[in-house]
Amino acid sequence: MNILGIETSCDETSAAVLEVKRGRFMLRSHVVASQVAVHTKTGGVVPEVAAREHMVTILPTIQKALEGVKPSSLDAIGVTAGPGLLTSLLVGVETAKALSYAWRVPLVRVNHIEGHIYANWLEESRPTDSFPFLILVVSGGHTELILMKDHGRYTKIGGTQDDAAGEAFDKVAKLLGLGYPGGPEISKRAERGDAQAVAFPRPMLNQKNFDFSFSGLKTAVLYEVRDKKLTTRGVNDIAASFQQAVVDVLVEKTMRAATKYKVKGVLLSGGVAANQLLRNTLASRVHTELPDTFYAQPRPAYCTDNAAMIAVAAYFHAHKKHFTPFAKLKADANWELV
Ligand code: KG4
Ligand code: ZN
Repeated sequence: MNILGIETSCDETSAAVLEVKRGRFMLRSHVVASQVAVHTKTGGVVPEVAAREHMVTILPTIQKALEGVKPSSLDAIGVTAGPGLLTSLLVGVETAKALSYAWRVPLVRVNHIEGHIYANWLEESRPTDSFPFLILVVSGGHTELILMKDHGRYTKIGGTQDDAAGEAFDKVAKLLGLGYPGGPEISKRAERGDAQAVAFPRPMLNQKNFDFSFSGLKTAVLYEVRDKKLTTRGVNDIAASFQQAVVDVLVEKTMRAATKYKVKGVLLSGGVAANQLLRNTLASRVHTELPDTFYAQPRPAYCTDNAAMIAVAAYFHAHKKHFTPFAKLKADANWELV
């Protein structure tokens, strides 16, 4: 099977071609046109600007991904239909529909969060079908603990009550005068800082649920920096202490959930999964405390938004002939996976 994946839910225009042959996954192409340079000027994504950028880059991006691939060899076009910014989603969805109509290739609507989850299948040591898995999804818009009982069967066991983890990274980066997106900036500065320097709270750590809250942590950082002239060292220390607080809460709650639900695997997903401290801490705790549990995390390039993960998710639907009728494919900014 050959699947064309298309992703335009936020600020990356991406297209990829995935070939699945006798259970082997091969990425034939993967193109990401990043808008970071454009949004750096405004310190965040302006939806209207993002959508215009997608309009300019979508066709060249798809064309590049299709080099050496005949449209007639495609078995499906998978496209992110939500959640995300509506005007950004529309560009990918309407382009996918036009190509599907012209080439007579069936469509698969893909949920962006399901795409993040399936990024784990792009790695050599991908999950086998020994469910259930626990997935920690941490992105700019989501922070969720999801139980995956089978392909396409999800239950949410916890989520954030306010800001998403990535959102907290981005907002704290702004408070510290760092660039956009905030996550990579904070983790860079944190490498040179002392994670014990500031005793930030660990929100909801002692509550016996699997929910999160990060807005109080952001406020704690605000109090820490308010009316202060920050030195480079001060910024590094706050970045390191903040990052440690977020990682402590995410990892501890994930470990508790994995133990309670006796899962066979723990998977990490979403843009914040590119964070090295989170990756190292969760991997090491699962390996030492739950040695019989499978653990996976996508390489950083597949953690942040990309079309390769959308193509994988689309494959699992196309494989079961779960196609989306042309007229039913609509962008849905608030589409909840569970
Ligand atoms: O999944 P993603 O690319 O887009 C959404 O679906 O939201 O996630 C983007 C988020 C941003 O908030 C960004 O700051 C965060 O992921 N992020 C990171 C790192 N790289 C990206 N957060 C912490 N550490 C990183 N290294
Ligand atoms: Zn995403």
